[in-house]
Amino acid sequence: MNILILGSGGREHTIAWKIAQSNKCKNLFVAPGNSGTAIVATNIPIGVTNFKAIKEVVLNNNITMVVVGPEDPLVLGIHDFFLEDEALKNVAVIGPQKAAAELEGSKEFAKEFLFRHNIPTAAYQSFNANSVEDGYAFLETLKPPYVLKADGLAAGKGVVILEDIDEAKAELKAMLVDAKFGIASTKVVIEEFLDGIELSCFVLTDGVNYKILPTAKDYKRIGEGDTGLNTGGMGAISPVPFADDIFMSKINERIVIPTINGLQKDNLPYKGFVFIGLIKVGNEPFVIEYNVRLGDPETEVVLPRLKNDLVEVFEAVANQTLDKIGIEIDERSAATVMLVSGGYPEAYEKGKVISGIESIKGSIAFHAGAQLKDDKVVTSGGRVMAITSFGNTYQEAIKKSYQNIERLHFDKINYRKDIGFDL
Ligand code: AMP
Ligand code: GLY
Repeated sequence: MNILILGSGGREHTIAWKIAQSNKCKNLFVAPGNSGTAIVATNIPIGVTNFKAIKEVVLNNNITMVVVGPEDPLVLGIHDFFLEDEALKNVAVIGPQKAAAELEGSKEFAKEFLFRHNIPTAAYQSFNANSVEDGYAFLETLKPPYVLKADGLAAGKGVVILEDIDEAKAELKAMLVDAKFGIASTKVVIEEFLDGIELSCFVLTDGVNYKILPTAKDYKRIGEGDTGLNTGGMGAISPVPFADDIFMSKINERIVIPTINGLQKDNLPYKGFVFIGLIKVGNEPFVIEYNVRLGDPETEVVLPRLKNDLVEVFEAVANQTLDKIGIEIDERSAATVMLVSGGYPEAYEKGKVISGIESIKGSIAFHAGAQLKDDKVVTSGGRVMAITSFGNTYQEAIKKSYQNIERLHFDKINYRKDIGFDL
């Protein structure tokens, strides 16, 4: 069959790399893609939210499966757009429908879902511009640090954690009254701070059945020792060493099963990945957030460990026969280190030539913000390339990635040298 992947990051290169290994895939397209997806697929230069253009591409190329990488098209309802169109309704779309994508599109919606289904999460209240004073009063009832979350999508920047109550009040006002995050902060969720270590659990569901995929831990801060500004993610490890069988069964029973059942009870149609952001407090798992897609760079360590034919698995998602599939996972650890442009996550330069990719041995280079220009691979974003390796231990995997990074170069290259430091 012919398959289209939407997106242009390291996540999408990894999905394309995995799908390209399937005998079931005849022609693979990625829109818009990057220099990495160009190795294994045909790039099509259209945006991921340009539904009209996507429709044309699908019809012109006899595409029968669309895999949605990022959240934006899902929250805007791409799956519903396909179902409502006579010519597209039989195309399999991997990604939830709009109503379910609100789990990522609205923090308040996600919190209401979690409470309705008794899934462990931080206590919270939500506020709007008319209830700022109530928000101040709620902050007074909490202990520092204070967690404020813009309700809507804010490109990963909408969560602010502050130690000082006056700063927290000023932030609340900036979000609600001064529209700091535009319409994304029309509502703000304030929640109790949970102190623990984070991990992510990935679940694939056909709406009824589900499979738990490998866990992963990502490193969000730009600086070593988890310091400095938040980024999209600077590296990841899978599996998470502290997520042992007992902890995983708590996650399954208290979080995954009630989530999948909750989707059905609430009539939220879901065929796709559920990315559950968790925090381990003592020995208990709590949900920090839902995302309705795979994580980036978590995908770069999760999918390489999946032994199954990914197209076969996606077909089972589309046909609601995921219960018939046995998921096989590589026992080895995988680690990825993200190479970023100097300056990121603030201002950075683009167009730097990346050299040494062909000399990588024993690791995989998943391209992210990288594009082809005159036959050269050049930087085109903040996060440029994720170097993934396997090892019998995560330490071994990380070491291999760092060895290969020595062979790579671009002007103002930056990366964290301490991925896995806290494990
Ligand atoms: P989110 O966008 O919801 O993933 O939040 C971004 C980051 O903020 C998370 O990865 C956590 O590190 C942190 N965070 C969010 N909510 C909480 C909370 N209730 N307690 C502690 N940290 C939190
Ligand atoms: N790495 C975090 C995310 O994809 O949201």
